[in-house]
This record gives sequence, C-alpha cells and structure tokens, in this order.
Amino acid sequence: MPDPRLHGLARDLPQLRLKTDLADLEHYGRDWTRRWTPAPLAIALPGTVAEVQAIVRWANANSVAIVPSGGRTGLSGGAVAAHGELVVSLERMNRVLGFDAVDRTLTVEAGIPLQLAQEAARGHGLQYPVDFAARGSASIGGSIATNAGGIRVVRYGNTREWIAGLKLVTGTGELLDLGRALVKDSSGYDLRHLAIAAEGTLGIVVEATLRLTDPPPPTNVMLLALPSFEALMRVFEAFRARLQLQAFEFFTDVALKHVLAHGGQAPFAETHPYYVVTEFASDEASEVEALAAFEQCMGEGLASDGVISASDAQAQQLWRLREGITESVARYVPYKNDVSVRIAAMPAFLAEAQALLAREYPQFEVVWFGHIGDGNLHINILKPDGMAQADFVADCERVTKVLAGALQRHGGSISAEHGIGLVKKPYLGCTRSDAEIAAMRAIKAVFDPAGVMNPGKLFD
Ligand code: MLT
Ligand code: ZN
Repeated sequence: MPDPRLHGLARDLPQLRLKTDLADLEHYGRDWTRRWTPAPLAIALPGTVAEVQAIVRWANANSVAIVPSGGRTGLSGGAVAAHGELVVSLERMNRVLGFDAVDRTLTVEAGIPLQLAQEAARGHGLQYPVDFAARGSASIGGSIATNAGGIRVVRYGNTREWIAGLKLVTGTGELLDLGRALVKDSSGYDLRHLAIAAEGTLGIVVEATLRLTDPPPPTNVMLLALPSFEALMRVFEAFRARLQLQAFEFFTDVALKHVLAHGGQAPFAETHPYYVVTEFASDEASEVEALAAFEQCMGEGLASDGVISASDAQAQQLWRLREGITESVARYVPYKNDVSVRIAAMPAFLAEAQALLAREYPQFEVVWFGHIGDGNLHINILKPDGMAQADFVADCERVTKVLAGALQRHGGSISAEHGIGLVKKPYLGCTRSDAEIAAMRAIKAVFDPAGVMNPGKLFD
C-alpha cells in the first residue's frame, strides 16, 4: 500500500476495494478529455452508501481531496484526478433498487450505466427518456453531476427534469435524502437541484429515483441535406410546426467525412455542406406532414435532398451518421466547445459564431454539430498531427475567450450540457455573474466546508 494514510482507510473498511496499480490510477484518473496526466492517490470502489460516507469522513480527517467517478465519459475534465486525489468510483454501486408502478419511478444506485437504467425502465413498459451516444458507459450519477442533455432534449428536456429524488453524501459525510419522489413539495429550498450539475463539488450522488414516462411512440427518422447554415433554423421551424419532434440534430460535411472514414455509406450521391437528422412520431398523418415540411423546405431552397427511414435498420444507419461523430474524431484529441443560446437567439448567434471561427481558425479543421433544436452547438477543433498539445490548446483558449464574449452578448452559456470542469473554468464568468459565482461558493462552503469534494472543478 503506497501511501500510509490509506492503511487507516483499509483497516476501517475491510470490504472496501482499493486500487493503487499504475494502470488503474491511469484508467480511473482521466475522462474523455485526455488532456491531463492522471495522478490520483488511489481508487476506492465502495459497495455501500455507508462506505461512501466513511470515505468522505476519512478524507476530511486526512485532508485528502475526492474525485467522484462514474463512467468518466465527461468532456470537460470534471472527473480528472491529476493532483493526488482519491478517486471514488461508484462502478460497484450499479444495482436497480426498486420500481414503483404507481409513482412510475425507478430507483437506482448512481453507478448504473444509463443504458441499463433505460433497459430496466423498458422492462416495466415505460421509458427513461434521457439519451445520448455514451449511454453504454456513462453512469446515472455522472449524468446527474453534469445535468446531461443529449439527443432527446427537444422532446423531453434535460436530466434535471427526470430526477424525482436523489441521495447525496455531502462533503462532511452526511447523507441527505432529497426530493423523495414527491410530485408536489413546497417546503423550502429544493436542495436536489443544487446537487444536479454540481459536478461532484457538493458531495457524491449515491442513489437516484428516476421519473419514467410512457414509452416513445413509433417514429420515423429523416436525414436532410441543407445548402446553407442560414437554412438550419428555418428548417427547424418548418418541421417543428408540423410534427411532434423527438430529436432535431445537425452536423456538417466535415463531421460526416470523419464518420464515413470509419465505415458506412454516404447517404446521398452528392455531398452537401450541412445535414439534419430528425426523428418524429410517425403515423399516417405525420408522414404526410413530414413530406409537406420537406417539400416546403425544398420549395424555399432550404433543403437540397432528403431521405426517410424505411426500416429500423435504416433509421439506425441514419442515426449513426450523427452519433458516430465524437468517436470518429477522438484520435485528434479535439478541443471541444459546447455552447448554447436561447433558440430565438440562434440565427444571430450562428451567423456571428460562423464568421468568428472562420476568421480565428483558418489553420485548423473545425467540426460543427449539435442539438440545434435546443440551441446547443458542439464545435470541435481538431489538433493537427504533429502539433504539440500545449500549443494547440493555447491557441484554442485564445479563440474561446472571443467566443465567450460573443456568447455573453447573446445571453448564452459556455457549457450547455458537458459541464464546466477544468476545461471551461476560466470562462464561467461569461455565463454567470460575480454575484452568482459568490453564491455558488457560499453554497459549496455549506455542503463541503473542508473543500474535499472535487476541488478545482467548476471554480477555484
Ligand atoms: C454529442 O452530442 O455527441 C456529445 O455531446 C459529445 C460531443 O460533443 O463530442
Ligand atoms: Zn451533445
């Protein structure tokens, strides 16, 4: 056991799994950003809530910082342990604890992967509608820590809307039972919502009660080719006016090129600069409406081509063109922007952002995609082979400052759904006022007076 402080922890908690092998420290100390060199003290894998509480008390007594850890699919460095922290991985706490048919809730341990929670809901004839590409690895706890959005927000909203209750082990080791699945509760501050999107800075979410809903209707998937960026929001308006949209996502030809480099067939004979994949509830009437929306867009010069899925397999193929983007560009260790503005502010912001990035990034490949129906854009800058990562990041940081200024003018956010973590920390002030950040610090001091919970993330 390399660090003597760990002896006490191992002695007090004989069932606790502790890992200190170099390979484990590297594996559990990083997330998908891969920008920081992992250097945790050790990895603790508790099996019970009581063990999590004991770990937090030990961390307070020994002045050890804790990094809560789920599937580590995060893209903002929120789960990075690079300074001798104890990583507390919830991966063993991955059970479904209960289903309530009357309340329509599913209670799970926080380490359960999103996909398993979705499958458990389906097994009860219902749906947990939060969904995104990393569903197989991302944990429910991690999705709560970042208020994850994903591909169904346009229809169902963010994670926040679906958390009926959660249990939080605070920075002092206290266990709080928040929300308790009550539909109505006007008894003061809703502390549950402070834990959501807190990125583990207030405590560790150990359990969640997920609100479920009716299963999704049968759907159709349509892929549209667009001639211009300006057409995007108008196509969105045309489809939203006629259909019950389940998803409305956009990507560029550059994104498509990277996905197709990993396999699959080009969807159209010609290439087009922009694409939209949309999914909508399908019945006879909606198919007519979808066709009408498509024809309207073609007639107004907003779309240049389109294809509608004729089978589930084809729907999946169309979705792969959008969902495969992150993985297809991973080898370039992209610098990621994840920004949002109000949907109404989207056209003006898009025009400004496009000009800004074309001006500032002539030397880099820029991959645009995202959840256009939520006002959320992902802008991935690809590191050229051979360029030192530090130089690349420094240049991207310079441009992010300019982008942050544009976002501030348009009333937007520097993090739509990935969290602030380490990556966006310098820009928090463009999204939140000084008074708000001061209030956040004060709240952290209440939940985590010794500052052991994920220090250095969100703010210093
Ligand atoms: C996505 O929408 O695919 C994700 O948020 C991931 C990303 O930005 O790479
Ligand atoms: Zn996304």
